[in-house]
Amino acid sequence: MEKHWWHKATVYQIYPKSFKDSNGDGIGDLQGIISQLDYLQKLGITAIWLSPVYQSPMDDNGYDISDYEVIADIFGNMADMEELLDQANQRHIKIVMDLVVNHTSDEHTWFVEARENPTSPERDFYIWRDQLNDLDSIFGGSAWQYDQKSGQYYLHFFSKKQPDLNWENAQLRQKVYDMMNFWIAKGIGGFRMDVIDMIGKIPDQGISTNGPKLHDYLKEMNQATFGKHDLMTVGETWGASPEIAKQYSNPDHHELSMVFQFEHIGLQHKPDVPKWDYAKELDVPALKAIFNKWQTQLELGQGWNSLFWNNHDLPRVLSIWGDTGVNRVKSAQALAILLHLMRGTPYIYQGEEIGMTNYPFADLEQIDDIESLNFAHEALEKGQDMAAIMDSIRMIGRDNARTPMQWDSTKQAGFSSADKTWLPVNPNYQSINVQAALADPDSIFYTYQKLVQLRKDNDWLIDADFELLETADKVFAYKRVRGSESHLVVVNFSNQEQNFAWSDSFEDILISNTDVAVALNKQKLQAWDAFCLKLTD
Ligand code: NOJ
Repeated sequence: MEKHWWHKATVYQIYPKSFKDSNGDGIGDLQGIISQLDYLQKLGITAIWLSPVYQSPMDDNGYDISDYEVIADIFGNMADMEELLDQANQRHIKIVMDLVVNHTSDEHTWFVEARENPTSPERDFYIWRDQLNDLDSIFGGSAWQYDQKSGQYYLHFFSKKQPDLNWENAQLRQKVYDMMNFWIAKGIGGFRMDVIDMIGKIPDQGISTNGPKLHDYLKEMNQATFGKHDLMTVGETWGASPEIAKQYSNPDHHELSMVFQFEHIGLQHKPDVPKWDYAKELDVPALKAIFNKWQTQLELGQGWNSLFWNNHDLPRVLSIWGDTGVNRVKSAQALAILLHLMRGTPYIYQGEEIGMTNYPFADLEQIDDIESLNFAHEALEKGQDMAAIMDSIRMIGRDNARTPMQWDSTKQAGFSSADKTWLPVNPNYQSINVQAALADPDSIFYTYQKLVQLRKDNDWLIDADFELLETADKVFAYKRVRGSESHLVVVNFSNQEQNFAWSDSFEDILISNTDVAVALNKQKLQAWDAFCLKLTD
């Protein structure tokens, strides 16, 4: 089995609007990112997944692209982008670009032309119908928008400013591949592919994801672009099962390196209900079962996992599954240890490494996210109570992940010199910030730093088998076994003491957030205890 650099990599996601503002306009930018590359090098990460920085009217914060080969003014320009690539490469950090090709902005010249001129070739780059059907947009309402000029409807699975591209059109596909090659030629490290499972849609049959031609398109894309280079590709696939994930990531299929699956994230809300109806408590046994399934079914050579708790669309994990009170640091360390020692490529979302938390949003005035706002307006129309709506947004809304990165305890957490930032800084920045984390050898930051290094140094993390252990409900323990070599990972996924009996002897503690000897003696785990032991052969 050929091993690639990304098998040993830890990826760090940057949401550019919120990472670091260099020019005082209250919005993060590329020069801001460049100024913090030394920090990321200290953390040790191998690659940055950069959420979109392309020209965009920012209806969905850059996931609505009006020119794929131009940098948005708020972030800088192409010279800044090239400088970022150069500076990152000098530090052995690769830049993975966000590829958003399920849709463009309605301000992209293709769509402008398609709308203005129904006989233009660009018309068929999008999906037009005389009649609408009952497909819904993920951001609420119908997925179809009427176009006055031509008397037809166009499809938009996200906002109406994000018309869906028609992947049936070969000319469009070629234009996408040309654009990808433009970026590859600049020396990027790969692509994160936005809602890639939707490009094979058949709207007339109500098929939005996993359409019949999806994998043909990906094989074609692979051949036409990144397949010739040692790049990392990760597809966002909300509905993937392990079987589907293998279709994408089996190396023999020549599609993608890996996908993001979201089955564990599905536990954040009640089954079969919209995400806003969040689950008040995590079902830990269900979480164990899900990870067990993914870890055992995506064996090396047959597929590859991605590992994540957070991204720019999700609540901060400490606020939903960890502890934001006295055990904030310990629970953050436990969650990191649990995830990073599994098989797959781990992703850290900016601020996760210092234990950032959800924001105490008080009213809709403070909300920027189009999805949250659409949800609130629809819910209000249905007569729902404002307090309940805000409760959902506070727990689940995407802006929680998007508040500015907390660098230090000065004004605006050192994120910006502006009096007002595009989203407010979390009031807890006085204590939760990078400067404080770096000054404390027991901080969450150093747990992440150690985990990143462990991944670089230990091949067993790539190829050892995963064995879930039978334990108390709220203890998550597994072994990674390779021949006669075994490692044991034990995590108390709760704020309460738990029993944990074991008889294995060990020769080394690879990482821990507790006194392992005490836990061993008492056969008890304190709240959020977590450690990894190398067992004696
Ligand atoms: C998934 C992205 O992660 C999300 O932020 C975005 O709103 C949608 N795709 C649409 O591009």
